[in-house]
Amino acid sequence: MWKGRFAQETSALVQRYGESVSFDWRLYAHDIAGSIAHSKGLLKAGILTAEEQQKIETGLLEIRHEIEKGQFEFKESLEDVHMNIEAELTRRIGPAGAKLHTARSRNDQIATDVRLYCRASIDALGNLIIAMQAALIECAERGGDAVMPGYTHLQRGQPVLFAHHLLAYVEMLARDAERLLDCRERVNVMPLGSGALAGSTIILDREYIAKELDFHRVTQNSMDAVSDRDFIAELLFVISLLGVHLSRLSEDVILWASAEFGFVTLSDAHTTGSSLMPQKKNPDVAELTRGKSARLIGNLMSILTLLKGLPMTYNRDLQEDKEPLFDSIDTIGLALEVFTEMISGMDVNRAKTTAAASDPMLLATDLADYLVNHGVPFRQAHEVIGKLVAYSIQEKKAFGEMTLAEFQKFSPAFEADVMACLNLETALQARKGIGAPSPANVKAQLDHWRGVLTRE
Ligand code: ARG
Repeated sequence: MWKGRFAQETSALVQRYGESVSFDWRLYAHDIAGSIAHSKGLLKAGILTAEEQQKIETGLLEIRHEIEKGQFEFKESLEDVHMNIEAELTRRIGPAGAKLHTARSRNDQIATDVRLYCRASIDALGNLIIAMQAALIECAERGGDAVMPGYTHLQRGQPVLFAHHLLAYVEMLARDAERLLDCRERVNVMPLGSGALAGSTIILDREYIAKELDFHRVTQNSMDAVSDRDFIAELLFVISLLGVHLSRLSEDVILWASAEFGFVTLSDAHTTGSSLMPQKKNPDVAELTRGKSARLIGNLMSILTLLKGLPMTYNRDLQEDKEPLFDSIDTIGLALEVFTEMISGMDVNRAKTTAAASDPMLLATDLADYLVNHGVPFRQAHEVIGKLVAYSIQEKKAFGEMTLAEFQKFSPAFEADVMACLNLETALQARKGIGAPSPANVKAQLDHWRGVLTRE
């Protein structure tokens, strides 16, 4: 492509070192869409005749078809996806093909291709997130009103509904989806027409080309446009955080599936056995997801580090943006799919969660609240209940087994109705403030999310 200026062939090693077609070939559909739109721009500007444009478009569509059928041979010697497709087009249709690259550089071309790829990936990820949310809702609904302890510091804290715990992840995923859409706004801007770095003396109607490609806007500074990869960094951050959320859920599932907790049973299809220990049923999907989320964060770090030292404008370093980007998109997509399946096959073990939630200590806060309702300042109430807890442990007597006289030794504010607040059901029903886990609230949230997800 640059043979005019060179007397020597590129060294074979340099070719192997610099080729990107082995991974950027996957941009072919976007590259072809971009080229077709560009050819229409060239037609509108009078650079191509209608016949030439038609030849280019038909030729490119044929090439796309062949790539899709696995009949196209990408050549390392042609370096990247752009040159492979353009060379083949020119081989097929002759001079018209050689005009396609007018007023365009691979610099604005690759920036356009990658933006189109990111936009399509964002849309696909959005749908996968919705499917995962639906699986969580469905699992929560199957669990009905199963209660479990809610934890802080991994110590039992207060009772919650199992569904409330799962709904926490539905909220996290909703924020991830929101962030994806926000990122999409900045992805959806067209760099094509920025040329190598300073546009072109041949003026194309960029707004028109952008419309052809469904871009919302066109970039306003050619130098920024060819070197801007902020949108990749942003997308990789959003994906990393999504991965972090899946990793946290993984950790919950791993704990829950252990004999120590026994809160859930995973389906055989989503667990693995051990080659040595016949009794094992391992939550590998969750462990792998926890592990893969590390790579997602690594990919984000790669991009940020790649960008930080680059002078304006395009530098070949930027070719290194693709592998981390592709890897993150592939990895998170598969993680969401496999997690959706696993959650659909996950069942809560009510007997276990109820037993754990029936730990009377979980109602210590409720007892303090009881005293507050009987006129005791909270700090004082907290101390009274603290002493009551110590007494309960020392005497090996649960709150429910104590007499009213015993309660009153700690505070005269206790009355006969204290026993009522030691009931798990009542305790949950009482948590009816916005966002708290009363069964009525949780049901309303499940209905809310069902509605949102079916609308989307
Ligand atoms: N393969 C290149 C990349 O991914 C395409 C742009 C090449 N531009 C150049 N001036 N060598 O960045």
